[in-house]
Amino acid sequence: MRAFVLLCLLHASFAQRRNGWDGPIQGPSDVELAPGSECAAGLDSCSCCLILRDVSKLRTKLDATLARLESESSLATRSLGRLEAGRAAFSVSLLKDGGFRCIGPFGGDEVVIYEHVFLNLGGHYNGSTGVFTVPQAGLYTFAVTLHSDAGAPRSPLAACTGLQVNGRVAAEAREQNADDQEDSATAVVLLQLNAGDAVAVKLLKGCFLCDKSHYNTFSAFLLY
Ligand SMILES: *[C@@H]1O[C@H](CO)[C@@H](O)[C@H](O)[C@H]1NC(C)=O
Repeated sequence: MRAFVLLCLLHASFAQRRNGWDGPIQGPSDVELAPGSECAAGLDSCSCCLILRDVSKLRTKLDATLARLESESSLATRSLGRLEAGRAAFSVSLLKDGGFRCIGPFGGDEVVIYEHVFLNLGGHYNGSTGVFTVPQAGLYTFAVTLHSDAGAPRSPLAACTGLQVNGRVAAEAREQNADDQEDSATAVVLLQLNAGDAVAVKLLKGCFLCDKSHYNTFSAFLLY
């Protein structure tokens, strides 16, 4: 009897594979019931046919689970693709070359064009305009470090920049005094932004920045 039940199970397993689940189980697919066996004679009455029915139910459930898993997996793959397409991070500094140079002062606020690009993932920082265009809504981290050199001790130093979103000031970094010949300042800020927002650093009216080896930097990345 035991061998007989096993034979029925094998038959159920392999017979259903042909028109349903096509999973990783490998083996011959043409196991036949022994001619004249109880199962072959009366499929509805024998005890092994109850087992066949259970196996069939299990298989239906397995097929449904597999279909659900496949659909969830393709959803996850699509989300990952969107995340990769929307990634945004850049880090730039004022001067491309290593020489000492100052920019400003100007009669009004001017966008700072950071020439040297350390990193521009996604290409959302425009090196000719100095503007970062937000690729997707989210929380972004920005860091602006400025540096300037008054040229001589006790000469007036005026280093001031404003981080602007769509032309409006979000944060400023400022060093205006006559105490130091050189000074640095950093502003770090987290901003909730929308796709298409334009973010740039402006050199404020009357201020000037000096650089030699990446003293002035502007960086941002999408936090989430
Ligand atoms: C940078 O901005 C300029 C002026 O708007 C535009 O012509 C250029 O195509 C932009 N560059 C990139 C890489 O988007």
